[in-house]
Amino acid sequence: MRSSATAQPNIALVKYWGKSDIEKNLPAVGSLSITLADLWTTMDVDFATDARTDTLSVNGRTDDRMLARVSRCLDRVAGGRRPAAAVASRSNFPIAAGLASSASAFAALVVAADAALGRGRDRLDLARLAGSSSGSAARSLYAGFVELEAGEDAVALRQLAMPADWPLEVVVALAAAGEKPVSSGEAMMRSADTSPFYRRWIDDQPDDLAAARSAVAARDFDALAAVAEHNCLKMHSLMWTSRPPIVYWNQVTLLCMQAIRDMRERGRRVFFTIDAGPQVKAVCVRDDADAVAERLAATDGVLDIMRSGLGDGARLTPTECVR
Ligand code: PMV
Repeated sequence: MRSSATAQPNIALVKYWGKSDIEKNLPAVGSLSITLADLWTTMDVDFATDARTDTLSVNGRTDDRMLARVSRCLDRVAGGRRPAAAVASRSNFPIAAGLASSASAFAALVVAADAALGRGRDRLDLARLAGSSSGSAARSLYAGFVELEAGEDAVALRQLAMPADWPLEVVVALAAAGEKPVSSGEAMMRSADTSPFYRRWIDDQPDDLAAARSAVAARDFDALAAVAEHNCLKMHSLMWTSRPPIVYWNQVTLLCMQAIRDMRERGRRVFFTIDAGPQVKAVCVRDDADAVAERLAATDGVLDIMRSGLGDGARLTPTECVR
């Protein structure tokens, strides 16, 4: 009745923005991501608790903010009546700051809960369950380069390449501390309802996915850089043209983007991507990672730097001292 699992966040290079079914939390577009190695969330789920209702602790402290979403996710994993659960989460990176903490959290949660309840579902089923809590979480069940296909009734996932096939690195520049003002779920629904560019976004996504898929297959860094930056800027332009507008960036975000562009012009193999927050993720080849990290760390206003290679999908881990 008790299990633990660990998952890493993933960073989308072709983004998920918009839902086709709000009830089932189905994405309106496909997406393509890389799973990280060195940022992680561990979830411990214990159904043998005396408590009458679910409890949640985050990094050792009781924290009810995500409890309702966690409980709904556990309901879906159980698929019927279930005992109350004591859930303990630990992460080595900031939560709800645009670093995909919900992806690693829900990926780890479904793996741990499924094992604790003895269900033994396969990876795709677990990914679909994770995706119904947080769309991007479905991708964190898989290693390396992952494509998510948006079907009418369910998502499908494909592993395009393993971390060792193309060992890119990611340098995250923290441009602000604290939680984001608008959740990604609320923001993407606002874009769908009010941005004049939303329809075009949906129509063009298959082309971006095809370009990124071929770039991964050919290990063509320049082609991947071009489509990833284009897709990221397109997603943010949907946010800016929503009513009321959503602008997650700050001046540090822009300085980091300029630094990355400048490094690329000088021959470094690096590109940026940015999710629902101000943080900038620089994706680069291994040989350039030290220089990229050094330059971003020295950029005005950058609070911290995190580095990661590409890593594995969510998996069970020993139930040790997570609490
Ligand atoms: O999984 P959610 O609901 O937090 O949405 C994630 C949206 C982006 O991170 C901005 C894009 C993506 O594909 O991960």
